[in-house]
Amino acid sequence: MAKVVVSGIAGCIGSWVALHLLSGGHEVVGLDFSEEHHRLRLLGIDGAFPLYRADVRDFDALRDHVRQAQPDAVIHLAAFQVPTCKARPLACVEVNVGGTLNFLELARSEGFPLVYASSAAVFGPDLGRTLGELEGLTPQNLYGVFKRTGEEMARIYAQDYGVRSAGFRPYVVYGPGRDVGMTADITLALLHAARGEPFHIRFGGTVALQHASDVARAFIAAALDPPEGARVYNLRGAVVAVPEIVALIERVTETRGLITHGTSPLPIAADISDAAFQRDYGPFAYKDLETGFRETLEVWRAGAHV
Ligand SMILES: NC(=O)c1ccc[n+]([C@@H]2O[C@H](COP(=O)([O-])OP(=O)(O)OC[C@H]3O[C@@H](n4cnc5c(N)ncnc54)[C@H](O)[C@@H]3O)[C@@H](O)[C@H]2O)c1
Repeated sequence: MAKVVVSGIAGCIGSWVALHLLSGGHEVVGLDFSEEHHRLRLLGIDGAFPLYRADVRDFDALRDHVRQAQPDAVIHLAAFQVPTCKARPLACVEVNVGGTLNFLELARSEGFPLVYASSAAVFGPDLGRTLGELEGLTPQNLYGVFKRTGEEMARIYAQDYGVRSAGFRPYVVYGPGRDVGMTADITLALLHAARGEPFHIRFGGTVALQHASDVARAFIAAALDPPEGARVYNLRGAVVAVPEIVALIERVTETRGLITHGTSPLPIAADISDAAFQRDYGPFAYKDLETGFRETLEVWRAGAHV
């Protein structure tokens, strides 16, 4: 069994990472600067592992936690999302770039492998073909630039110091606990429809959807069996046009006309290949979208009191 330190554990993906690690009998040490634990409560695991209040900008605090925990791997998820990066670039670079640099430096000195959240936002717009890990890397916002910087820092830490790392690039994560950021609109639309309320998804086009549970399983696979050197992995999941997503929401909630959507696509290619991830950690099966939506509604109904 492994011991894993997880930053940003109170977030959507972090809560699912904690749930799957605990279910697998692993030891979890959580770090987050927020005391808002509604996602951990929703998944029934608040209080099930030690969770320390720590800011990933604070190198000394991270070093103390890591030395205390002596982890087999660190999963670093803490970050600000796209809207915060646009509104507050200076704060965002400190958290999204500085936080990743802090963990790379600790991976170097303490000798653990690092698994970290990059993002599909490292890609630019659709190029009319399926993109591998190293094509189309023209991020269209600061959030994507900062995520790409994290990947490049990890590459240099492998080259110069032998640090082992895996960076994952989720696209639109959905499921229980997904409630922050523009692309949370898909999950929020599903929950609004289930309550009989209208909701407007602020974008159109085609997106790649991954259930938070699947994303968490991908991070854990790499943490338990880290690659040599620095790797980055695309994820794929369900590549679907937003009008089809709306139709599916209507089907699973048995509603009609409550959910509308914008017409502008996200400036991120959705047709990206996860062949490298499947080669190193596959075969990896993603939840099909209808199952993922139905399960999201079940968790939400069961946990409506939290
Ligand atoms: N959700 C998606 O669709 C998506 C897509 C691509 C990449 N990602 C990346 O995956 C990671 C996790 O995403 P999420 O959806 O769980 O996000 P989230 O916003 O739900 O959770 C992020 C967590 O990080 C914590 N955090 C933020 N700044 C911190 C700091 N300075 N110190 C300590 N904790 C801090 C927050 O309190 C929160 O609990 C992020 O790095 C995000 O950029 C998410």
